[in-house]
Amino acid sequence: MVYARVKVTSFACTIAELVRSGSKLDKDDIASILGSDDQVLIEQLYGLADQERAEHVGQEILLRGVIEFSNYCRNSCAYCGIGIHNRSLARYRLDANQVMDAVKRIVASGIRTVVLQSGEDPYLDPAWLASIIARIKSFAQVAVTLSVGEWQEHEYRLWRSAGADRYLLKIETTDPLIYSKLHPGMSLENRLRCLSLLQELGYQTGTGNLIGLPGQGPQQIAQDLLFFAKGQFDMLAIGPFIPHPDTPLARHPYSSIDLTVRAIAVARLLCKASNMPATTAVATVGGQQGRHLALKAGANVVMVNFTPAPYNTLYDIYPDRPCAEPIRVISRIQDWARANNRTVLFSVGNAKDKKV
Ligand code: 5AD
Repeated sequence: MVYARVKVTSFACTIAELVRSGSKLDKDDIASILGSDDQVLIEQLYGLADQERAEHVGQEILLRGVIEFSNYCRNSCAYCGIGIHNRSLARYRLDANQVMDAVKRIVASGIRTVVLQSGEDPYLDPAWLASIIARIKSFAQVAVTLSVGEWQEHEYRLWRSAGADRYLLKIETTDPLIYSKLHPGMSLENRLRCLSLLQELGYQTGTGNLIGLPGQGPQQIAQDLLFFAKGQFDMLAIGPFIPHPDTPLARHPYSSIDLTVRAIAVARLLCKASNMPATTAVATVGGQQGRHLALKAGANVVMVNFTPAPYNTLYDIYPDRPCAEPIRVISRIQDWARANNRTVLFSVGNAKDKKV
């Protein structure tokens, strides 16, 4: 603890020097930053993260169009509102035509990445998903990102050969004890195995975590961030935990937007070229300002939700998700970008040095 305090008081110069010299922040450095109550130091952190973002991924904000095609899920993650434990939630699964309609709206908006997201739907037919991927790829020159959870190698292979370019699988937390408490019937080992498989199969691979989980403090978050640095992921989604009333964590407090933005900023210092969204969860907890804060402290991606009504409200992973029209979301981002010397990029927007 004394060590952490000493470090923090000298941090204002230390962090800049560490970053410039290319030295690595260690776990205690990171935990000190995350837990610091020195506002000057935090402003400096955000400034450095913003510089690194400008240097390594540029001024462009990348847009992704998300389609949440099924809210069925076989898991019961303690924080998640679409877990199998939530019996009061109406379930839906879009058919191929509904998915393609949403794809057409994404393409018409100018966005060139389609993210297909769902719960771990036990009735999902892998061949059906492969055929959707192939249809999307032949319909337009877009990148297809999957975010459908843990599957076997043969499914990951099938979807990759059907044309899927990218895959998001958040680790959620790297702390074995917290992981096992929050994910009954699942294992951290299998999640790690899936992530390695996805990388080996040539997906641009993204992961991420939740900030503010029970039992999680600066040390545990620092551990997550070091895991991200080691894994050289193409994308990192860091979002605040939001309590959902129909879950075991209903009474656990909201995560702070501050801590989440700090984690994003440190992630940018550690993973310079990764694409990082200012997540919808950030915008849920912190409003548009929360999103802007993240974009000024290292984030460079915005996910725009194209799930059609009324299904968008049923993808109830956490409460109060903003359900604005995609066109409005895009124009708000454009306004913000114009005022902040940033540009909005509609094209494919690959991870650095990667192609689709
Ligand atoms: N708060 C914030 N994010 C959540 N997710 C699920 N439930 C919550 C919640 N209560 C995120 C998880 C998961 C994805 C399905 O949504 O990170 O990866």
